[in-house]
Amino acid sequence: METAAPPPRRAWIEAFGCQTNLLDGEFAAGDLRRRGWVPAPSAEEADLVVFNTCSVRQHAEDKVWSRLGALAERKRRDPSLLVAVMGCMAQREGEEILRRAPVVDVVVGTRRYGDLARLVEEVEGTGRRVSALRDPSGGFEEPVRDVTVREQVHRGWVSVMRGCSHRCSYCVVPSVRGRQFDRDEASILEEVRRLAGDGATEIFLLGQNINTWGRTLPGRPTLPALLRRVHEVPGVRRIRFLTSNPMDIEIPLLDAMGELPRVMPYLHFPAQHGSDAVLRRMYRGYDRARYLELVGEARARVPGIELATDLIVGFPGETEEEFAALLSLVREVRWTMAFVFKYSVRPGTAAAALPDDVPEPVKSSRHAAVMAAQSEVEAALLAARVGTEVEVLVDGPSAKRPERMAGRTAHHQLAVLPEGAGGPGEYLRGRVVRATARVLHVDPAAAAAPGRP
Ligand code: 5AD
Ligand code: SF4
Repeated sequence: METAAPPPRRAWIEAFGCQTNLLDGEFAAGDLRRRGWVPAPSAEEADLVVFNTCSVRQHAEDKVWSRLGALAERKRRDPSLLVAVMGCMAQREGEEILRRAPVVDVVVGTRRYGDLARLVEEVEGTGRRVSALRDPSGGFEEPVRDVTVREQVHRGWVSVMRGCSHRCSYCVVPSVRGRQFDRDEASILEEVRRLAGDGATEIFLLGQNINTWGRTLPGRPTLPALLRRVHEVPGVRRIRFLTSNPMDIEIPLLDAMGELPRVMPYLHFPAQHGSDAVLRRMYRGYDRARYLELVGEARARVPGIELATDLIVGFPGETEEEFAALLSLVREVRWTMAFVFKYSVRPGTAAAALPDDVPEPVKSSRHAAVMAAQSEVEAALLAARVGTEVEVLVDGPSAKRPERMAGRTAHHQLAVLPEGAGGPGEYLRGRVVRATARVLHVDPAAAAAPGRP
């Protein structure tokens, strides 16, 4: 007599980090699926909870410790619950996570995410908790990804490099993700083709310091050359890439962006600060004048380009005068988007040796001042688009008004459509009829000539 198969076990993955981190989470999700796991509808209903963690600021780590504390309660009631921790904090804390959080069964470091699913099953068999960490500074072969497991059908993320060989004084990334190691072109293109073949029309290339892609490979290929190759892949309509650091950006890249129509006119180009003294203490390798020069080059070579930045307020020793230089840079550059962070000490970084001497309330008020200046700039940039025609790649229901679809313009500005218009993955042309805080309202019926490229 046949017995009914047990119901498939359910996994819940919770992510805390950057896009590279999310992509590693997608790999783990695909691997779990291959082994018969299905996605759980919520953490509460999961047989396995995976925390995919970030170490870039203390706050991200604190959240994970507190989530682990809450899960311990549940595990007392349900001892079969499995818990795994992957990502940057797993790499940084390693075995300490097993010691401090008895609820955790598996810890996998940044180069071992490919082993997560296997190790979870091993723990189920042996009952022995495990950690798998590897020195992140060696070579690395990307495991072959199940590209059908991804958040959005129309968007494919592709990792082109691992780690970073800079030593910005505030940054934990080189220690948790190791030195730069580039993925070879053939393997990148193969993954792009598989993604495009599976319906991904927007390809997002990811690297911590993507402008230097190729420097560790034989023949030293370059990012502009890679963009040209990705540009030829049938089915790819939009190409984006992250992150472009000012110390490594080169003119041929800007020229390639200007020339290749499917490479989007948007550059995430973190300045971090506007004061030369602070930039020096951050070991950034450029000064304000150089940053501004590069902004000029980008705007001259890529017509209409929009720029985005990351900024840190409250870096050790930041004086009122130095902060004023940061604030004035916001108005001078006019970024379309700024991600603003309060400085957070990271153990093992060069800046950790400096006193974290900007008091929290000062960090908060400087953060608020930058955000306020940025909002004004953003509002003006969005207002300037009213009356123009844009192409929107629809992502899905708008977060604020789910009855409407929202998506991104070529310039990566957020656009919402009228009720009933568009569906996820569709490209729609329309006219910007209105701009509100952070959003362009686009009317597809008002496009001049439907179907125009
Ligand atoms: N404190 C605050 N923000 C940080 N970032 C990186 N390290 C720190 C830190 N120690 C910010 C930088 C980086 C972004 C991903 O996070 O702005 O570009
Ligand atoms: Fe990404 Fe850096 Fe956070 Fe790691 S520490 S998840 S590389 S942002």
